[in-house]
Amino acid sequence: MPVETDVLVVGTGPAGASAALFLASYGTRVVVVTKYSKLSQDPRAHITNQRALETLRDMGVEDTLMALATPWELMGTTTFCTSLAGEELGRIPSWGTDPARHADYQLASPCTMLDAPQTITEPVMVKAAQDRGATVRFDTEYLRHVQDDEGVTTTVRDRLSGLEYEIRSRYLVGADGARSKVAADLELPYEGPGAVGGALGIVFRADLTHLVAHRPSVLYWMLQPGAEKEGVGLGVLRMIKPWTEWMIMWGYAVADGPPELSDEFVRELAVGLVGSDDFEMEVLSGSPWTVNHHFATTIAKGRVLCAGDAVHRHPPTNGLGSNTSIQDSYNLAWKLAHVIAGTADPALLESYDAERAPIARQVVERANQSIADTGRIMAALELTDTTDTEALERQLALRRAPGPEGDKVRAAVREAIAYKAYEFDAHGVEHNQRYASGAVVPDGTPMPPYERDHQLYARPTTWPGAKLPHAWVTRDGGREVSTLDLVGHGRFAVVTGVGGEAWLEAAAALGAERGLEITPVAIGPGLPVDDPYGTWADLREIADGGVLLVRPDCYVAARHLEAPGPDARAWLAGALDAVLGRA
Ligand code: FDA
Repeated sequence: MPVETDVLVVGTGPAGASAALFLASYGTRVVVVTKYSKLSQDPRAHITNQRALETLRDMGVEDTLMALATPWELMGTTTFCTSLAGEELGRIPSWGTDPARHADYQLASPCTMLDAPQTITEPVMVKAAQDRGATVRFDTEYLRHVQDDEGVTTTVRDRLSGLEYEIRSRYLVGADGARSKVAADLELPYEGPGAVGGALGIVFRADLTHLVAHRPSVLYWMLQPGAEKEGVGLGVLRMIKPWTEWMIMWGYAVADGPPELSDEFVRELAVGLVGSDDFEMEVLSGSPWTVNHHFATTIAKGRVLCAGDAVHRHPPTNGLGSNTSIQDSYNLAWKLAHVIAGTADPALLESYDAERAPIARQVVERANQSIADTGRIMAALELTDTTDTEALERQLALRRAPGPEGDKVRAAVREAIAYKAYEFDAHGVEHNQRYASGAVVPDGTPMPPYERDHQLYARPTTWPGAKLPHAWVTRDGGREVSTLDLVGHGRFAVVTGVGGEAWLEAAAALGAERGLEITPVAIGPGLPVDDPYGTWADLREIADGGVLLVRPDCYVAARHLEAPGPDARAWLAGALDAVLGRA
């Protein structure tokens, strides 16, 4: 007898762990398999952006993560230097810690930015998923699958006993990372040059407080001989725990293969990056990884849907990998839950590909562009090759020298570092993901234009296909909550104001009729939620009595700009049916 479940998820990385958490929280039966006996021991992804944290806030695990993670205020002084103890070329305040950007971040989300390596996020997500009913099987390797009209039969191998067995599920989620066998078996089409470089990731313990605590950051970038070769653009020391645990990122030529990580090699690399040998170190792990430029242009076929690095493979620049993986799963999980519960037509699942495949392309291109942008620092110093140490020294000296040539280099370096805002403050990249699919009902209005750079600045809007804007509103005697807290939790919501009672009545009736829970949200004077600052009124882009139909992933599915007429119920029914694939 095969094991039976509704959804089988392959992988317990950020994509798989979050898929399990979302599905289990929505009450969907889910089994998760991973081929290893443990969760990730490698602190790879760490920058956790507000948008990913919002999804985990929706699941009630934000506080747990915040208690374990490095807080926002320690994330931000990205420093460019020759070594930690060496010459500083400049700094760029990052991840919204610049006072000039902090308000943008605070206005966009109820969440902070966080530094939470995968060694923190995966256990939190997996434990919460298990607590909510997910079954997790370690040492269980996905081998192959066959899909038919009713479901998917997946063959897995128990790596302890060697026994192979089948798991029968209605849907299969391939969250098995950059070497995804699920995606390969599905023959998903990919674009992009593929592997474009190699990098070493070496984790070590060393107390470097005296060199960094005065300029707290998660990333210190080193311009050193050979540092710009392949890799992420320069040599990097990344903070894992302030200021005693670190990761070295250093490029190597893929064509030559990774160097042997002998004790001497690693020590020499660390001493070079620190710029002193006056420290004790304990190496914890070391492994090579590939700098990729590769994305799937179709991310699902039939009953098999892929998420995370399985469909977008790119370098860690911009910190988009795990964040995007979690958001893939957030987009997918409510759709699976509704289809499985019978409240949506399977056609709804087509919107997963339509909405997330363009995001896969976008993040892969952004992350690779950020490596290219680091080259501007080299260009500013008029360097083509750091291995010419004489030229490197000469140009660094020129930057310190009086006179017009020095002025030119100084200005160029400042400008090149400031340009890295597209990597370290790309708030728009994180927040402006818009969806166009069958699960969004256009209202005939054009997408509101970006008044500021769309990569750097979040542009809140209630335009169908955009995430519901965050605003602090009040309920329960003046207690502040985010508008995002009023929606989500796996349910649709209707958001209206004074004069919108007919929307709430229509939602209640339609919900009962279709077996759907639709959360009523009424914001305004005399209503359950008030808007004392008027922020929501400024952001909502609808009249007091207009309505937003909000999906369980907090995206606006449809909106009616004006107060309801006699057709409120018909309009809402039409919008719901369209989104749920029943039109
Ligand atoms: P991931 O690779 O994490 O997980 C794959 C899972 O599938 C594992 O559980 C594995 O066991 C399982 N699996 C694989 N094959 C299987 C099989 N055949 N059968 C069963 N199980 C199988 N991202 C970010 O957002 N912010 C950041 O700051 C960084 N920083 C960063 C630094 C460094 C050095 C690296 C290398 C990467 C990052 N990233 C990042 C990227 C991030 O690590 C990456 O995008 C996510 O781990 C992807 O998550 P997935 O769940 O898709 O795959």
